[in-house]
Amino acid sequence: MALPESFLQELTARCDIYDIVSRYVKLKKSGSNYFGLCPFHNEKTPSFSVSRDKQIYHCFGCGAGGGVINFIMRMENMTFPEAVRHLAAQVGMEVPEDTGASYGEKRKRLIALCTESARFYVEKLYSPEGKGGLSYLLGRGLSPATLKHFGLGFAPDSWDSLIHAMTQKGFTKGEMLECGLVVQNKSGGVYDRFRNRVMFPIIDIQGRVIAFGGRVMDDSMPKYLNSSDTPVFQKSQNLFAMNFAKKSKGDFFLLAEGYMDVIALHQAGFQSAVASLGTSLTKEQARLMASRGKEQVIICYDSDEAGKKAAQRAIDLLTPTGLKVRVLRMSGAKDPDEYIRKNGPGAFRDLLEKSDSDIQYRLGEIAARFDLEETQDRVEFLQQAALLLCAIPSAVEREIFSRQAAEKAGVSPESMLEEVERQRKRRARQARVQQERQAMQPARAAQPAARDLRYDNVRSARREEGLVALLFSHGELLDRVSSRLQPEQFSSPFLGKIYELLLKRRQQGEETSLGLCMSLLSPEEGETLAKLVAKEPPVQNPQRALEDYLSVIEMEYIKKKNQTEEQDDAALLELAQRRLRRQQERGGM
Ligand code: CTP
Ligand code: MN
Repeated sequence: MALPESFLQELTARCDIYDIVSRYVKLKKSGSNYFGLCPFHNEKTPSFSVSRDKQIYHCFGCGAGGGVINFIMRMENMTFPEAVRHLAAQVGMEVPEDTGASYGEKRKRLIALCTESARFYVEKLYSPEGKGGLSYLLGRGLSPATLKHFGLGFAPDSWDSLIHAMTQKGFTKGEMLECGLVVQNKSGGVYDRFRNRVMFPIIDIQGRVIAFGGRVMDDSMPKYLNSSDTPVFQKSQNLFAMNFAKKSKGDFFLLAEGYMDVIALHQAGFQSAVASLGTSLTKEQARLMASRGKEQVIICYDSDEAGKKAAQRAIDLLTPTGLKVRVLRMSGAKDPDEYIRKNGPGAFRDLLEKSDSDIQYRLGEIAARFDLEETQDRVEFLQQAALLLCAIPSAVEREIFSRQAAEKAGVSPESMLEEVERQRKRRARQARVQQERQAMQPARAAQPAARDLRYDNVRSARREEGLVALLFSHGELLDRVSSRLQPEQFSSPFLGKIYELLLKRRQQGEETSLGLCMSLLSPEEGETLAKLVAKEPPVQNPQRALEDYLSVIEMEYIKKKNQTEEQDDAALLELAQRRLRRQQERGGM
C-alpha cells in the first residue's frame, strides 16, 4: 500500500500523539515533555517520553521510539496499513484506496481552483463592479498595501460570475462544489456561494489559498460566510494569517478572534497575529502555534463576555502545549481592530506589555465571582485561589502570586501563603501514593535496546543530527540550507536520506512534519530518528546553530574528498610503478 504523502501528512496532523498515547499510558508533564512508564519494557521509574510539539515518543530506557503510527503498530501489534486504518477511523478520515498519484493530483487541482478564484475576486475588487467593496475596506482604515498583502477581494453581486470565470479556466462544477465555492439547489443547478461580499482568502501555513471568508458590507446577516470543510481545508487545523505570522520576529504570537482584527494588527506592525476561523480555538491550532519555536501566546480576544469565555478555553488548550500564555485586557473598545483605530499602535503595544500572565488572569476571573467585602466569600476565594496557585512549580512565583491574591481579597499574605503550601503538600501526598501504586505493577521482560547508529565521522554526524532536528523545528531554515548543502555531503547516509526527503518535498512546495517523516521511514529508522530528535536540546539561536552545523559538515566533507583524492593519487602512483616494473621485467628478458 503506497499511501500518498498528503494523506499521511494530514493523518499524522490530526492524530495528536499525546492523545493517542495517553489512552494506553498514564502521562505526566515534565518540562516541555510528558513522561510515563514505558509500555514496551518493564520499569519502575518513568523513562518513556512523549513530545507533543515534535509528535514523537522515545523511551530512554529501552530505546523504543517513533511517531504515532509506529506507536499503534507496536501497541496493538498491527501492520502499518492496519495501524493507519485504525487511526484514520478514529479521526474520521477515509483511507484513499486508489493510487497515490490521483489523490495528490486532485488536491493540487482543488488548490489551483482556490488560487484562481482568489485572483478572480482580487480583479473584481479593482473593477467598476467592486467599487463598493473597495470603498468599504478603505473606509475601515485598511491601506491599499494591506489589501494587496492579504489578497482581499470582492465577490460580485451575481449568481454565476465565478462559475463562468472558473469554467473558462478549465475547472468543473464538481470541483467548485468540492471547494465550497458554489452551492447546489434542489433541482441540481449550481450558483455562486459568495455574492456581494468582500472576500478574505484563507491561506494555509505554506502560503496556499485553501478557502475563503466573505463579509457583507452592511449590517445584514450572516455577517460572515465561510467555506465549509473541504478536502483541502479543515477549519480546525488552520489559523488565519499563520503564513505571515510564522515568519514574524519576536517570541510571541498574538491570538485574535476576527479576520479584521488580525489584518488591523498586521497593518499596525504586529505581524505575529493570527486568528482561528470563526470557531473557538482547537487543539490542533494550539499545536500549530506551539510548533513554531515561539515561547508565548498573548490572547487578544474581544472584551465582551463571549470573548472572556473563549479566553479561558484558549488558556486551557494552550498551556498543555508548553506555551506561556498571557491575556490582554482591553477597555473602551470592543476588539483590537477598534482599539487600534481609536488609540493607535503605540497604545496597543502598551497593552501588550501590561498583559496579564495566565495565572493573573485566572485569579482575576476567580475574584470576579466573589463579593470580597463578605467574609464568607473571602474564605472561598482564598481556597479557590490556593488551588490554582499550589500548582505553580516555582516557589518564587508562588509567593509573588499569593501576595497578589492576598491583596485582592484583603487578607494577610501570611494566611494566603499558608493555605497555598497546605494545598501543595496535599497534592504532593497524592502524587506519592500514585507513584507507589504504579511501582507495584508486575514485571515484564524488557525489550532489547534499539541499536545505535554507527557513524563513520562522528564530528560531522553530530552536526548532521543537530541540523536535521533543527530543520524539523525551524522549517523556514530549509531554503537557506538547500542552496549550500547536498544530501551527498552528509557523512551519515541515513541522515542524508532524511535531508533528501525534506528537500524533495520542499521542491514540491510542501513542508514535512516529523510526524509525516516518521510514517515514511521503516520502524527501525523511525526509532533512530525519534531518539536523536528527543535528545537534541532546544536551540537558543537557530541562525547561529545553523551556521555552526553547516561549517563543520562542509569542512568535514571537503576533508573527506581530499582524502579520497589523495588515496586516488596514491593508487594511480602504485599502478604506474607496477606497470613500470612489469616493463622492466619484460625488458630484462
Ligand atoms: N464569524 C463568522 N461568522 C459570523 C460572525 C463571525 O464566521 N457570522 C467569525 C469570523 O471569522 C470573524 C470572527 O468570527 O472574523 C469574529 O467575529 P466578529 O468579532 O463579529 O468579527 P470581526 O472580525 O470583528 O468583524 P468586523 O469588525 O468586520 O465586524
Ligand atoms: Mn471587529
